[in-house]
Amino acid sequence: MTTTMKKRLPPSSSPSIRQHFWLGLQLVLSLSVLVCVLALLRLNSQSQSSPAAFSPLRRPSSFSGPPKIAFLFLARSNLPLDFVWHAFFQNADEENYSIYIHSEPGFVFDESTTRSPFLYGRQLKNSVKVVWGESSMIQAERLLLATALDDPANQRFALISDSCVPLYNFSYIYSYLMSSSQSFVDSFLDKKEGRYNPKMSPAIPKDKWRKGSQWITLVRRHAEVVVADNVIFPTFKRYCKRQTELDFGRKQIINAAAQKQHDCIPDEHYVQTLLSMSELEDELERRTLTYTSWNQSSNDKEKQNWHPMTFEYADAGPQHIKEIRNINYVYYETEYRTEWCQCNATFVPCFLFARKFSRGAAMRLLNEGLVGPFDASTLLFSSS
Ligand SMILES: *[C@@H]1O[C@H](CO)[C@@H](O)[C@H](O)[C@H]1NC(C)=O
Ligand SMILES: *[C@@H]1O[C@H](CO)[C@@H](O)[C@H](O)[C@H]1NC(C)=O
Ligand SMILES: *[C@@H]1O[C@H](CO)[C@@H](O)[C@H](O)[C@H]1NC(C)=O
Ligand SMILES: *[C@@H]1O[C@H](CO)[C@@H](O)[C@H](O)[C@H]1NC(C)=O
Repeated sequence: MTTTMKKRLPPSSSPSIRQHFWLGLQLVLSLSVLVCVLALLRLNSQSQSSPAAFSPLRRPSSFSGPPKIAFLFLARSNLPLDFVWHAFFQNADEENYSIYIHSEPGFVFDESTTRSPFLYGRQLKNSVKVVWGESSMIQAERLLLATALDDPANQRFALISDSCVPLYNFSYIYSYLMSSSQSFVDSFLDKKEGRYNPKMSPAIPKDKWRKGSQWITLVRRHAEVVVADNVIFPTFKRYCKRQTELDFGRKQIINAAAQKQHDCIPDEHYVQTLLSMSELEDELERRTLTYTSWNQSSNDKEKQNWHPMTFEYADAGPQHIKEIRNINYVYYETEYRTEWCQCNATFVPCFLFARKFSRGAAMRLLNEGLVGPFDASTLLFSSS
């Protein structure tokens, strides 16, 4: 085009044509400058919305008194093991912890639903209906973190299930968590299962995809990253879904194989993947603090299935609990990684909590005095 223009515009051409030419050229130049500026702005906004550049929300940061652990309970309805946690908090200093419970919407913790006054009124007001294994579970976790962040004294955030018990007394767990400035997040490469859906790209590149236990303990700045995330969560909502039996109806029978490939359990990937995308993995102890005993059993389908074993009374004897407390490393098969459990460069026992405990097993644990001495008379036995 430039050559034809040159041909049509010899030096002898009339002033009006020349004027038009310069006007046109100016127009083209300013347009291209505009396009460049727009492109730059777009790049800039993209990098601002990338997870690596999340800016933590502005929240009050100064507080007086000791730093607190926020215990974040994820419950279906009540907390059946409230009596263990009651004994646990009885041996704590009130200014060292706070409690938040995400339960089903409308469920209130009071004298009619719990025997522990420590739990009264600790339920979130804005809880959501949680379907186990779906993204509503992550939503509940994020709500717990967001609520707990409102208290600037909360410096560690421990996610606890309703079948979970502490393996130590409060002061042990407090000094363990406070002696490290890292989060405890079980996180490893997910090589086998094909839960990563290529459609998540580019929001989530495959090399950042991680797997790990849902039961995490975060430091405050990582809790802020999780709450501020508005990129990874929507992608999970869309593409990380558990495939239920219903999904394999007539319509989708052809796609069944493809679908099965991306059977995805959001809470086993979300925080791990988000922190890896945020380049925060070197601020993690890459392991969970919550012990789970896995039982491999083959069910009706051809595939082998791992189930968390429930501790019954007989499984919670002193010897077994001692063995769990003595575990000092975890082996990660997909990475050939042996994680010697450390906390601020000191070797420590791996596990502070354990699940899943029946009431009987939890009662036995309590009677052994591991959680600390406890005064049964302070428990309200209104339900019995
Ligand atoms: C708490 O547990 C630790 C470790 O088991 C023990 O050494 C300590 O004496 C206990 N503290 C209290 C106050 O019971
Ligand atoms: C409570 O926190 C203070 C200050 O961090 C600490 O000295 C004390 O041991 C804590 N109490 C318990 C029971 O852990
Ligand atoms: C970690 O250990 C070092 C050396 O023992 C100590 O100076 C530091 O205060 C510890 N960090 C925390 C968070 O306690
Ligand atoms: C493992 O699961 C199977 C079937 O669910 C059960 O029969 C078996 O008792 C379990 N094993 C243990 C050690 O709990």
